[in-house]
Amino acid sequence: MSAASPAPDAPGGPRREVGPRSREIVAREQRHIAPGFQSFALYAGLAMARGQGSTLVDEDGNEYLDFVAGITIGSVGHCHPHYVEALKRQVETLTFGSFTTETRARFLELVSTLTPEGLTRIQMFSGGAEAVEAGLRLAKAATGKHEVIGFWGGFHGKTGGVIGLLGSDFKHHLGPFLPGQHLTPYADCYRCPLRTTYPGCGLACVDYIRDVIRYQTAGEIAAIIVEPIQGTAGNVVPPEGFLRAVESVARDHGALFFCDEMITGFGRTGAMWGAQHDGVIPDIMTVGKGMGGGFPIAGVVSTDALTQKKPWSNPSASSSSYGGNPLASAAGLAALEIILKEDLVANSERVGRLMLAGLEAMKEKHRAVGEVRGKGLLLGMELVADRATRAPLDKAIARELYQECLRRGLVAMTYSPSVRINPPLVITEAQALTGLAILDEALTVVLRRHGLD
Ligand SMILES: Cc1ncc(COP(=O)(O)O)c(C=O)c1O
Repeated sequence: MSAASPAPDAPGGPRREVGPRSREIVAREQRHIAPGFQSFALYAGLAMARGQGSTLVDEDGNEYLDFVAGITIGSVGHCHPHYVEALKRQVETLTFGSFTTETRARFLELVSTLTPEGLTRIQMFSGGAEAVEAGLRLAKAATGKHEVIGFWGGFHGKTGGVIGLLGSDFKHHLGPFLPGQHLTPYADCYRCPLRTTYPGCGLACVDYIRDVIRYQTAGEIAAIIVEPIQGTAGNVVPPEGFLRAVESVARDHGALFFCDEMITGFGRTGAMWGAQHDGVIPDIMTVGKGMGGGFPIAGVVSTDALTQKKPWSNPSASSSSYGGNPLASAAGLAALEIILKEDLVANSERVGRLMLAGLEAMKEKHRAVGEVRGKGLLLGMELVADRATRAPLDKAIARELYQECLRRGLVAMTYSPSVRINPPLVITEAQALTGLAILDEALTVVLRRHGLD
């Protein structure tokens, strides 16, 4: 059966093409929007009209399962009735300003019941990079030191204060970076930067951090910042014990242990916090994305003692114009209420396990699938040209995979050989399995086309 005339029971049903409404709206927008937009939106060429739960509908009425969730933002899915109601109510009453509101007080009370022990102080911002920068300022204020250790493959945003911590060639030609930012290899065991193998390596990458500190720094480490699972690098899961070992390096050097939970927080990994999987409690944690269920809100979370440090704690010193404004607080509160009421952390764990098993089956079936991994609904798949060398699949082939998924009604981050799968936390088992069946069929078609089946 050709792709043009799919079997009626093919995953995703009839094939979708970019329709006239999408084409017209995208063309209009493209005349004005600056280049450099997020890849999943740019490559799709679709104009979206609406969403519900884990489903998106484009302007021509085509439906798609959403395995992207705005890159982990959409914790409670699209247009959850409680979320819609809460924002409607707020927009009719108070929309801006930093005065205390009943909603913000309730929001912060609720967040602080969920954060790791002792981390009950929260400052809010409107974007992730801004929150990470504030966390780094806090680390400097609290330790009186200025250097930061980050990781290869790491991502903490694109602003001036964090771009030097970006562990990829994305930052090329965007220097100079802040002095005192040093990078060290992450425990990416599929492509170990130190060419060793876990567990035989004894976490050689952590020993390496000690060498980086010894040979490359001024010995003034304020913080080691780490993602519990590296999102942008491809939802890369480090082995057990990695975070614990990183924490002990931080302690040995009088540095703060800083977990960037922007992606991994609020249930995404099947636990409330990514750091929980390794039993560690950071000194500073940054949060965002799923916390607001779509509304731009991010935060720095830390202890009473650390957040008292000056100048961080001076009036107006740690805050921003929009941080935790009435709309953001209402959105955050509603998202958290849904996460708790619907037990989405457990859903993430349960459906995530099912999806990982589905991905394992795809690995058995397709030799171009080199590795699958994940925790909860933060899953990854490495597409390779050759299993032995682990050389990544050509990006152009991955882009074809993206299009074949879209044609079958699935939006997933398959346009890169490091595939990221992160649906809304409300996704049902049935939707997860349908999406995986689409991915499997699209993979089969594309790999056969290139003689890689
Ligand atoms: C771990 C992590 N930290 C920080 C950020 C920056 O967030 P934002 O894009 O809101 O600035 C991101 C964004 O993807 C992220 O994944």
